[in-house]
Amino acid sequence: MTITIEGQSVRVPAGESVAAAVLVHALGYTRTTPISGAPRAPLCMMGVCFECLMEIDGVANRQACLVPVAEGMRIRPQDGVGRTDE
Ligand code: FES
Repeated sequence: MTITIEGQSVRVPAGESVAAAVLVHALGYTRTTPISGAPRAPLCMMGVCFECLMEIDGVANRQACLVPVAEGMRIRPQDGVGRTDE
C-alpha cells in the first residue's frame, strides 16, 4: 500500500506499523521534544515509552508503534506537543 510521510509517497507492506515504516523509509525520528526540540525515535515499539508520537491523518499524539499503516495514510513527525488539523 502507499502512504505519505512528510509529503513523500512510499510503498509499505500491509500490517507494518507506522513507526516501522517511518524508521525504514524516512525520517529516523518521530517527534521533537516540547522544550529543546531534540528529535526522538521509537524505543519500545510496544506502546510504553511514548517516544513515537506522530501526527497521523491530521491527528496529533498518535502512538505510531501501535497504529498499522493504511492506504493513503498521511504521516508527519510531531513538533513538541503537536497540533491537530481541523
Ligand atoms: S515506541 Fe514506545 S510507545 Fe511507541
